[in-house]
Amino acid sequence: MHIASVGVSKVCFLFSLAFCGLLLMLIPALQPTTHHVDLPQPRPQIKTSPNTLQESFESPARGTVWTTVLNTNSRGLDGTIETEHGNDNYRETYSEKNSNIVSIPGGQDGILPGFASHDLLELKDIFIAVKTTRKYHKSRLELLIQTWISQAKEQTYIFTDGDDKELRMRTGANIINTNCSAAHTRQALCCKMSVEYDKFIESKKKWFCHVDDDNYVILPSLLRLLSSYHHSQDVYLGRPSLDHPIEAAERVKTDGLVSVKFWFATGGAGFCISRGLGLKMSPWASLGNFISTAEKIRLPDDCTIGYIIEALLEVTLIHTHLFHSHLENLQKLPTDNVLEQVTLSYGGYENRRNVVSIVAGFSLAEDPTRFKTVHCLLYPDTDWCPKLKSKN
Ligand SMILES: *[C@@H]1O[C@H](CO)[C@@H](O)[C@H](O)[C@H]1NC(C)=O
Repeated sequence: MHIASVGVSKVCFLFSLAFCGLLLMLIPALQPTTHHVDLPQPRPQIKTSPNTLQESFESPARGTVWTTVLNTNSRGLDGTIETEHGNDNYRETYSEKNSNIVSIPGGQDGILPGFASHDLLELKDIFIAVKTTRKYHKSRLELLIQTWISQAKEQTYIFTDGDDKELRMRTGANIINTNCSAAHTRQALCCKMSVEYDKFIESKKKWFCHVDDDNYVILPSLLRLLSSYHHSQDVYLGRPSLDHPIEAAERVKTDGLVSVKFWFATGGAGFCISRGLGLKMSPWASLGNFISTAEKIRLPDDCTIGYIIEALLEVTLIHTHLFHSHLENLQKLPTDNVLEQVTLSYGGYENRRNVVSIVAGFSLAEDPTRFKTVHCLLYPDTDWCPKLKSKN
């Protein structure tokens, strides 16, 4: 009896020693890492309530858990969506009836029973970011402000790298000087995307769409396309620039390289991201984190967006051919379908013209990009559009 209890104390003592040793070993591992290329570690926070649906995302590369909590009731999504992580905390309230959510495990075809699919989307719900640079304010931006931006002035934000008070005063456009470098480098492009992302989050709008300064956005088509999804779903829409996923080397903590494959939407054609997905991107995209994420894979801004969404969040790009960049042969777009597209572009019109083939009202000399022609077909009442001649 006495001997047995001595044995137990010994075991307890040895166990305590081992436990203390283990704790000591764990101290360095528990300390927050400060190395700047490390990804921010989202703090997993799980809340439960009777009407709560939870989605947890495990990032395979680093085993971090990212949790989004949707509080719902039987009538539809009518509550809060909370996305939390280490440095910041975004909290939003939705009050939508008859909405649907995809990507919730267990929902049939991604649609929860009792959720009809209708998002009464308005143009003002879409945040449109136009990326430009100071030297293209006159040659490219003015044309956009005169055409499609004039129809979406409040929600379109122009991200540039130099002040232009004159243009701002004359047109009333939302011009944001990102203070990023004007160089066409990966770092400068990612710097602008980072500011675009933060402004979108701040705007509280339902959708984020990014376009370049050589894109015409056909707003009615954009609205139609986005209306077929719900902004609380995980939606990443755009045109893949390659016919296969890109393979990149991801730098990981254990100073090694890991190969990672993912699709991305080409920035030159424009792409859109739902707010639900945008919020989940926050640990890798907000408040300058986008730049360190881009450095990790050493790829440009649009690839980094694809990396965050496809590789880290495991949400797949919805491939659409309604977005167009100047890298395509735009002449090949059937004339009948031009106005159904979401974005158009133009390129190289100095020597080899690459523009959509649409003829109405303006000659090629008057409208080398064809954007004015497209605009007048969409909005014939615009004061500078040629008046339709009556046929008698
Ligand atoms: C750029 O710099 C100006 C002047 O310092 C500042 O007012 C502005 O907020 C900065 N822009 C951004 C997007 O940070």
